[in-house]
Amino acid sequence: MTYPDLEDKVVLITGGAAGIGAGAARAFLGEGARVAIVDISEEALGKAEAELAAPDGHLITIVADVSNEDDVKRYVDTTLGAFGTIDVFFNNAGIPGRVAPVVDLDTAVFDRVLAINVRGAFLGLKHVLPVMYAKRSGSVINTSSIAGLASGIGLGATAYVSSKFAITGMTRLVAMESAAHHVRVNSVHPGMTNTALFHSTAVMMTDEGGDVDATRRAMESSIPLGRFGETADVANMVLFLASDASSFVTGSQFRVDGGQLT
Ligand SMILES: NC(=O)c1ccc[n+]([C@@H]2O[C@H](COP(=O)([O-])OP(=O)(O)OC[C@H]3O[C@@H](n4cnc5c(N)ncnc54)[C@H](O)[C@@H]3O)[C@@H](O)[C@H]2O)c1
Repeated sequence: MTYPDLEDKVVLITGGAAGIGAGAARAFLGEGARVAIVDISEEALGKAEAELAAPDGHLITIVADVSNEDDVKRYVDTTLGAFGTIDVFFNNAGIPGRVAPVVDLDTAVFDRVLAINVRGAFLGLKHVLPVMYAKRSGSVINTSSIAGLASGIGLGATAYVSSKFAITGMTRLVAMESAAHHVRVNSVHPGMTNTALFHSTAVMMTDEGGDVDATRRAMESSIPLGRFGETADVANMVLFLASDASSFVTGSQFRVDGGQLT
């Protein structure tokens, strides 16, 4: 156990059935925390529940769409009903959208990316923070991206870059509002991390009929530490931001990118 203060804490994770969210769920369970994972995919939640093999009473799964306010209220209420409180909120669900120049980007794609990545994050904050404010403690970690700090890295991903810059700004503003309530709000900025989302991005970056593996190799060689991130790399940062080890840290951005944006 790395952070003993996380034992028995209640951690709510959106987009928790796969990728970075599932990696964080595994890490929190390893610290003895109680975890609620929210995901739009019931099938993925079932798979995650089986793989995580949490001790009795430590894991619940909730099917919900983070862009739907009724669903958001329900995932908060369900977590409170099961565990009585929320100590840590990993506001993480997101989709990549499409890679296309702005003049070619479908407006429906733009709207969907913003609905999940920005509206979804906003709704989560709106409905989770009152629980934390009432008890004057809590830690929120929003998932942005290195594409929420520099635009070049998300070349052609107008909707995604817009959404991730929005998360960076929302984090900084909400951290200021929440400080008076003794609630901390930070953002984590993964680089290229080994998940389904990242692999779909590599496919989008490859010209039609092109070699996706060659695209992946080129992407990997652009990372100073010479490898893609793993979900555990991001989870390690999220645990730190959730724990009392970061008790004087709020409104900050944390890259986990192998040095890519340096
Ligand atoms: N993988 C990367 O390289 C990378 C890099 C930077 C940032 N990120 C960000 O990390 C977060 C997680 O990405 P990932 O790589 O783990 O993706 P992933 O696709 O592996 O997992 C995302 C999960 O979110 C769920 N989800 C999607 N839409 C949802 C919705 N409307 N409501 C609830 N759940 C929903 C999916 O079903 C999936 O289980 C995203 O916000 C993403 O933008 C990822």
